[in-house]
Amino acid sequence: MGAAMGSDSLSVTDNRTGKTYELPIEDGTVRAMDLRQIKVDEDEFGMLAYDPAFTNTASCRSSITYIDGAAGVLEHRGYSIEQLCERSSFLEVAYLLIFGELPTGPQLDRWVFDITHHTFVHEDLKHFFEGFRYDAHPMGMLLAGVGALSTFYPDAKQIDDEEERYMAAVRLIAKVPTLAAFSYRHNMGLPYVYPDNDLSFAENFLAMMFKKTEMQYRPDSRLAKALDVLFILHADHEQNCSTSAVRGVGSSGVDPYSAVAAGVAALYGPLHGGANEAVLRMLRRIESPDNIPDFLARVKDREEKLMGFGHRVYKNYDPRARIIQQHMDEVFEATEYNPLVEIARELEKRALDDEYFTSRKLYPNVDFYSGIIYEALEIPTNMFTVIFAIPRTAGWIAQWMELQEDPETKIARPRQIYTGEREREYVALADRDGPEKIGGPPAKRPKRPRRGA
Ligand code: CMC
Repeated sequence: MGAAMGSDSLSVTDNRTGKTYELPIEDGTVRAMDLRQIKVDEDEFGMLAYDPAFTNTASCRSSITYIDGAAGVLEHRGYSIEQLCERSSFLEVAYLLIFGELPTGPQLDRWVFDITHHTFVHEDLKHFFEGFRYDAHPMGMLLAGVGALSTFYPDAKQIDDEEERYMAAVRLIAKVPTLAAFSYRHNMGLPYVYPDNDLSFAENFLAMMFKKTEMQYRPDSRLAKALDVLFILHADHEQNCSTSAVRGVGSSGVDPYSAVAAGVAALYGPLHGGANEAVLRMLRRIESPDNIPDFLARVKDREEKLMGFGHRVYKNYDPRARIIQQHMDEVFEATEYNPLVEIARELEKRALDDEYFTSRKLYPNVDFYSGIIYEALEIPTNMFTVIFAIPRTAGWIAQWMELQEDPETKIARPRQIYTGEREREYVALADRDGPEKIGGPPAKRPKRPRRGA
């Protein structure tokens, strides 16, 4: 007999056996483990849920970030992203994400003091950076640098110690900008700039990037403000690819530096944090608003992708993209006008007028305009994802902390549907037959240009 109408359960009938199961529904979800009881034979493993790319699987309970993708809503701990961008600083938002409440005055002072006084990295870490090739991608350097931090703070392994967790949070938020700026200076062949404790978080980052011979580098306050807003916009975005990587790796019980390094690696990918870099390259290739119709035709023929459009969760205008748009004019008042803005605005207008994009609910995402602002700040394209990693570190830590406190936390270990062969008879090397080439390196390896070659 099925359950009565209105009960919080799902009745599932297995037509192979005719048996019906009642799966409890909690928060609009069923537990995948409840499917395990469904089997044809008693000695069978039981039914699994198959969800490649986790498009319909909740992997945790979280009270950090709320997104309503259909309505285009983003909230952190219940505060709208619009209010936070208008009224908070990035460090205040970082505190909110990690501790769950907006800080009081004294709490904020202490937090800012602690972050400001942990921005230096060990000189050995500086020497580690000096070992990279001159043209190493800054994201690769950041990834290695964050991983290397774990070797400087071995006590961070004590993940059950609240004080250690706090110190790791402070050190990561404080030192990631320093490593990010070092990676840029390394590419430019410029000396690394030490942090300046008299500057705000965003100002200090710009100073570590651009300081030359001046005694103190003070960036234009409008640019520092715009960068701080961009930091807020990128601080957290619930269970995205890099956050899932941090949680997945963190579930092994590893120290937080190593878990955050996994997040940096995931963010490096062009479908995630690398998208704003791809947007700029796309806008440069389009070259002029006149070429937009041709470009969009190629997108519709699937020869191109409209980078900076579409989102796994937002099926509406990404609220972060709207806020960035509001800050663009301020930035261009303080910098040279960038003609790519014209192309971007026209491209957006035309795509939003086109049934191909509207029917698929493809709207601009955060990356569509962020790259143009970074470029106005004279940040080179290959640094964009690195800049994304700076604020996202706060989100990764908040999510890592939440993971530590979740009583349901276990090591992440998905299942698979095995599609390979079974129980084959081993073939001795001399008896193996097959095509001359299978797998292995390509016949001719492309040569990597070397300095001076
Ligand atoms: N340009 C053209 N077509 C697109 C695009 C795009 N940017 N994005 C999705 N589509 C099409 C896709 O081809 C598919 O069409 P159809 O149903 O006819 O096959 C349909 O829209 C649904 O797309 P999907 O690939 O199933 O969507 P997804 O949720 O798997 O992918 C995405 C989300 C962000 C990977 C994808 O939209 C994309 O590749 N966008 C461009 C890259 C980008 O801007 N990424 C930054 C995301 S925001 C930053 C962040 O939060 O990490």
